[in-house]
Amino acid sequence: MQEHLTIVKHPLVQHKLTLMREKDTSTAVFRQLLREISQLLAYEVTYELPMTTRKIQTPMQTMDAPVVEGRKLALISILRAGNGLLDGMLELIPSARVGFVGLYRDEETLKPVQYYFKVPDQLDQRLVIVVDPMLATGNSSAAAVDLLKQAGARDIRFLCLLAAPEGVARMKEAHPDVPVVTASLDDALDEKGYILPGLGDAGDRMFGTK
Ligand code: URA
Repeated sequence: MQEHLTIVKHPLVQHKLTLMREKDTSTAVFRQLLREISQLLAYEVTYELPMTTRKIQTPMQTMDAPVVEGRKLALISILRAGNGLLDGMLELIPSARVGFVGLYRDEETLKPVQYYFKVPDQLDQRLVIVVDPMLATGNSSAAAVDLLKQAGARDIRFLCLLAAPEGVARMKEAHPDVPVVTASLDDALDEKGYILPGLGDAGDRMFGTK
């Protein structure tokens, strides 16, 4: 994956995203749409997975058929909203290993602080896909990638639903080697760090909290 930023403009992704943005979309529908979009985004982010062939027998003859090489994959969810993207992706890639990173923002320093970190072993040998629906300031995303690199990850991609220009710039500055895949590059952040036009708080919308 060469580009630092890939925007997935597929009509189905864009249509579902519009439904998710609407403020009257219910929690149940929001969750279902997120599951569907995550699978379409997973298609994009895994597009260049290395392939090999396996000899198989069709009812007609034998053939060397394409299969995904046994490359190890790790999906890393940034808690808690990342879990909404994770669920759909796991349906598509059930053998992927899964990790979780929990960060909160220190109210005084405004810096992300780690409260949970559990990831699969051999991260250095895996394609690591970090999932978080909202790339807003980029501070927690960059911090999560820092932690994953410290744990050995070398080949990392960041998958989100919406990105703000500030978040993309922050990721590019901190981790130019980590491609970002998103369904939309939105306009800006408001003074509280929410993406505009955005969709509100992704975690609250998917879990029905306020
Ligand atoms: N996190 C969210 O859930 N929404 C935003 O708009 C920004 C960060």
